[in-house]
Amino acid sequence: MDNIPFGQPNFSEAEIEAVARVMRSGWVGMGPETLAFEQELAAHLGAQQVVSTNSCTSALQLSLLALGVGPGDEVIVPSFTWCSTANAAIQVGAQPVFADIDAHTLGLDPAGVAAVVTPRTRAVIPVHFGGLGQDLLALSAALPPGVQVVEDAAHALGSTLPDGRTVGTAGHLCCFSFYANKVLSTGDGGAIAVPDAALASRLRSLRLQGQNTDAWQRYARPSSALMPPQIAELGLKANFTDLQAAIGRVQLRRQAEFAATRAAVAAVYGLALSDLGLRFQRGWDQPGHARHLFTVQLPPQWSSRRDGLIATLRAQGIGASLHYRPLHRMPLYAGLKRGQALPQTEAVADTILTLPIGPCMSADDAWRSAQALRQALGAAPWPRDLPN
Ligand SMILES: Cc1ncc(COP(=O)(O)O)c(C=O)c1O
Repeated sequence: MDNIPFGQPNFSEAEIEAVARVMRSGWVGMGPETLAFEQELAAHLGAQQVVSTNSCTSALQLSLLALGVGPGDEVIVPSFTWCSTANAAIQVGAQPVFADIDAHTLGLDPAGVAAVVTPRTRAVIPVHFGGLGQDLLALSAALPPGVQVVEDAAHALGSTLPDGRTVGTAGHLCCFSFYANKVLSTGDGGAIAVPDAALASRLRSLRLQGQNTDAWQRYARPSSALMPPQIAELGLKANFTDLQAAIGRVQLRRQAEFAATRAAVAAVYGLALSDLGLRFQRGWDQPGHARHLFTVQLPPQWSSRRDGLIATLRAQGIGASLHYRPLHRMPLYAGLKRGQALPQTEAVADTILTLPIGPCMSADDAWRSAQALRQALGAAPWPRDLPN
């Protein structure tokens, strides 16, 4: 039987032709295709500006740099996330401080955030976990004035916030990922939705060594072609390329198709696992959830067998996975000052697993995954034939 991979990207002939077109054009670095992608993504989100980057990791780091977060500052992050969220703070010389999550949303609990605020707190990075837009109004209400919010929306392209706004339009720097398994994939890549032009211009410079112009601007205007750029401040080398942008523009046009596929997979899981006392993430069945991940929380008595359960599914070719092992239990972060205990993080991290979901999956794949999980849990098959 075929494997059902976790998060396989869906590339069609249209993406392949778009890459070939850019290769034939002779300009494959950051240039006109990237500009078009940024404009189209901004329009898709309803964002003021979009600055593309080579990853969401660098997008988060650039955002903190642009806001002036640095040594001596504390940045509140969840421990229940991918390492990039916390590493962005470390990379700029600040200290990440872990706050607890809400077991239903899997995002930062505003009360947990308020509990770890100190006079050194300069920023907080909420994660729109799995594609669920988090309640940023409740989060902001838990923060003293002047603390910046940088959104980690690696999972949440196309998600909506509880107040109805699209993720990326809430007035903060908001960072997306286009890594291979994300809702929109360019192989690797990222972008920042930016609320104002001055900040966007600073980010454009910081993503390219702190230069005041980029190569396309110099070569597109022959009079300035030979003028070397000025380096205004220390930046990163973290730009997007026109090859990635070519893929991204096609993927952007296919978002509705991908969202429908993800929704169909989630609907099968929701039905076929509905009688087992499992907890699904809040909002998994709502249209505003991007459904990058489909997570299942097992009853606590399963915690010691959870890893074995994932191995059992994988042995059957089902790309079950674990998002995430909490960062505070990992060696790099073990020496960090701990603000508070993280009971919800620990309880969730010990009982959660991720079922495969993605734009290449069929409803049959979802049924097979769900039935395999039922079997591994010792439950009878869901009494329903595969849909035609
Ligand atoms: C929550 C979260 N933040 C940030 C990232 C980093 O994204 P990238 O791989 O584009 O750097 C990821 C990647 O999976 C992620 O899951």
